Amino acid sequence: MTIHFKKCTFSDIHKLQDISYETFDETFKNQNSPENMKDYLEKAFNLEQLEKELSNISSQFYFVYLNSELAGYLKVNMKDAQSEKMGEDSLEIERIYIKSNFQKHGLGQFLLNKAIEIAKKESKRKIWLGVWEKNENAIGFYQKNGFVQTGAHSFYMGDEEQIDYIMIKTLS
Ligand SMILES: CC(C)(COP(=O)(O)OP(=O)(O)OC[C@H]1O[C@@H](n2cnc3c(N)ncnc32)[C@H](O)[C@@H]1OP(=O)(O)O)[C@@H](O)C(=O)NCCC(=O)NCCS
Repeated sequence: MTIHFKKCTFSDIHKLQDISYETFDETFKNQNSPENMKDYLEKAFNLEQLEKELSNISSQFYFVYLNSELAGYLKVNMKDAQSEKMGEDSLEIERIYIKSNFQKHGLGQFLLNKAIEIAKKESKRKIWLGVWEKNENAIGFYQKNGFVQTGAHSFYMGDEEQIDYIMIKTLS
């Protein structure tokens, strides 16, 4: 098994759109209405939006490949790109998604370790994320990795208000 990691550029935008749609859809479609899913997918992953995010110098996207097959992606935010005012000493993991057929092979761990590596290189003291309260699988993964819930914020999935837990890991 060979794992590769690559920083995304503008030329990856279509691949990024495909994997963003696919992984979000398979993760959340069973717990949300088709209308709310459609609304969210169109808003969050249209090309104009992704282009804006890729051009933000305080955000970075990465792809992870298993044996040359695209298996997942990571998006991290720093400074003002963070979706909450967490300060200069924090890094946000905004998205960490592994395609369902590649899960439980250590790839999520690989991406999380990369995010920690980036945070340390950028002299950050904390790494944080928002996770839907009903996403028990991801919450278990974060807890296993030393993240602790410190708060919550609202998140709109179409017309439905949902609660995201804020989870933080202090870096040593
Ligand atoms: C959450 C996610 C990124 C984890 O990635 P993964 O590749 O399946 O997980 P890994 O195989 O790298 O697991 C790493 C470690 O975490 C543990 N782990 C994984 N899922 C876990 C869970 N639900 N509860 C507890 N521990 C878990 C594994 O056992 C492993 O530990 P070990 O090495 O001691 O056995 C992946 O399941 C995913 O993409 N889910 C769908 C998208 C999603 O929900 N993203 C988060 C949005 S906030």
